[in-house]
Amino acid sequence: MLKLGVNIDHVATLREARYRGRGAGEPDPVAAALVCEGAGAHGITAHLREDRRHIQDRDIWDLREVIQTRLNLEMANAPEIVAIALKLKPDIICLVPERRQEVTTEGGLDVAGNLSALAETRKRMNDTGIEVSLFIAPDPAQIEAAARTGSQFIELHTGAFAEHYDDERGRMAELDRLIAGARQAHALGLKVNAGHGLNYQNLALIHRVPHLIELNIGHSIISRAVTVGLETATRQMLHLMENYPG
Ligand code: PXP
Repeated sequence: MLKLGVNIDHVATLREARYRGRGAGEPDPVAAALVCEGAGAHGITAHLREDRRHIQDRDIWDLREVIQTRLNLEMANAPEIVAIALKLKPDIICLVPERRQEVTTEGGLDVAGNLSALAETRKRMNDTGIEVSLFIAPDPAQIEAAARTGSQFIELHTGAFAEHYDDERGRMAELDRLIAGARQAHALGLKVNAGHGLNYQNLALIHRVPHLIELNIGHSIISRAVTVGLETATRQMLHLMENYPG
């Protein structure tokens, strides 16, 4: 069965737009994570960025405590964040690029160019019982390098596929790259996840990519929650306004 990890960063983005620096506020990404789990999500993904633009440190500690599925911490290979992860002990980390020099032209992590630093972090995580995934474009050289780090997983970057979705030739070319990348990774003994830009429209074609274990999806699920939830939210506010005495 293909698993779903829900990325809750965008819930925190909305909270920070109003409550930045306040220590609490709505919407609460931890409460959102529990709703996703209740709906059947197989894991929760959160990205603790070095600039803390959405998820805050308190969020990941609260998530670690309350979620019953798997916690996937997305993170840069930066000393401060590595130290936090080693203490937090998420089930898995996914190393992602945050700085320009760590990014390939296609937007994934430049594993080939940062091999020894990534291999070292991979080892430290594994020694602490944390699995490791690398977020990479479906590029043969990067997949090969990912296997050399000893990582358990790669997460194939589906951003280019999503961006080219409206152009039939482009989307089929990107889909072919994902299929080839998944085959190559599987043959090298890597487990394969995928994510970024996946939505209710483009998901059907992703079924053609072999060997996938989990999809990490955020923006489209949180966006849909706004529209499917807005009717109830409006009704609840109207209910509170009933019986105005003035
Ligand atoms: N996977 C990774 C590694 C990500 O960094 C993100 C968030 O950008 C996602 C998946 C989810 O992407 P989206 O919000 O577009 O679904």
